[in-house]
Amino acid sequence: METVVVRMRDGIDEAGIRRAGEILRRGGLVAFPTETVYGLGADALDEKASAKIYQAKGRPSDNPLIVHIADWDAIGKIAVDIPAEAKLLADAFWPGPLTMILKKSDAVPLATTGGLDTVAVRLPGHEVARALIRAGGGYVAAPSANTSGRPSPTTAEHVAQDMDGVIDMIIDGGDVEIGLESTIIDLTDGTPTILRPGYISREMLGRVLGEVEVDRALTSEDVNLRPKAPGMKYRHYAPKAQLFIVQGPQRQVRERINAMTEANAAKGQRTGVIGTDESQAFYANAVVKSIGSRQDEGSIARHLYGILREFDESDVSVIYSEAFDTPQMGQAIMNRLIKAAGHQIIAV
Ligand code: TXA
Ligand code: MG
Repeated sequence: METVVVRMRDGIDEAGIRRAGEILRRGGLVAFPTETVYGLGADALDEKASAKIYQAKGRPSDNPLIVHIADWDAIGKIAVDIPAEAKLLADAFWPGPLTMILKKSDAVPLATTGGLDTVAVRLPGHEVARALIRAGGGYVAAPSANTSGRPSPTTAEHVAQDMDGVIDMIIDGGDVEIGLESTIIDLTDGTPTILRPGYISREMLGRVLGEVEVDRALTSEDVNLRPKAPGMKYRHYAPKAQLFIVQGPQRQVRERINAMTEANAAKGQRTGVIGTDESQAFYANAVVKSIGSRQDEGSIARHLYGILREFDESDVSVIYSEAFDTPQMGQAIMNRLIKAAGHQIIAV
């Protein structure tokens, strides 16, 4: 199939949105920008359309999709027994990078929720996304628009790398703003619990809700603990090269990485390094990329997936990355990086 690319970097193109909405209404697939990452959209209430998403991504069928809405009032059709916390969170963070797990209504097919009786709901902050959702009927299921196992796309080019020829349309909204997927909070099971860390931190949620827990499987070393979000159990974002995180005081980290790149160079092995604007000049004998500045943690979040994709294009066989335990998004950044590294951490 031919994948049409429609450019909306400078805002909404009404004709393009109408066309995209028609594709969704007749069961097709449209990739679109959100403030977190690009999504791969289909009509969430049409089980055949949802099934196409799984096929296009090569996604395991037990991994549920997030249903995107454009207005709070739309939630009543897809969720039941909505707790008061949901409205409090919506008032504080929607439109925005927060996904809530609620009990699902019969309107949502099990094909969309991976067989679960709960539904993930998000009202995205990107105006192009909201315009598309309205044009497409109001309920758009959208996982990140990458092939399963690859880094989530943060540009339309990333989407094309994985989805060209496979989906009907890509809406190019330029670079995303945040670069990591939304925070997921479960409101169906006792104390509100974070199932996936993101831009909206535990502290921010706690200010609205009081007590908030974090799914123990996210922080535990115990590999037998099953994450409550089915998608979190998969080793996402794995780069082609072996990735190691080097963690510790910054000077020691730089020295250890240099010692290893030198040893690799002596063996004729090409090494990649993920450093920062502040540290990149210190590294030698390696393909060095800066992920952003430690003075601006948003820049680190924004570039993480793009850097992993860039290294997939280069011929390095090992990558060493600094750790980025930054104040607000550190937990989300390290959650993704540690998964990409398959938990290979070198402590110095
Ligand atoms: O920022 C985002 O959330 C992006 C953009 C496109 O909105 N979407 C996204 O979707 O990251 P995806 O499919 O890549 O990740 C959805 C995550 C998966 O880990 C999935 O298991 C979890 O949400 N999830 C979905 N429905 C759930 C449910 N009912 N219960 C628990 N986890 C659920
Ligand atoms: Mg994903």
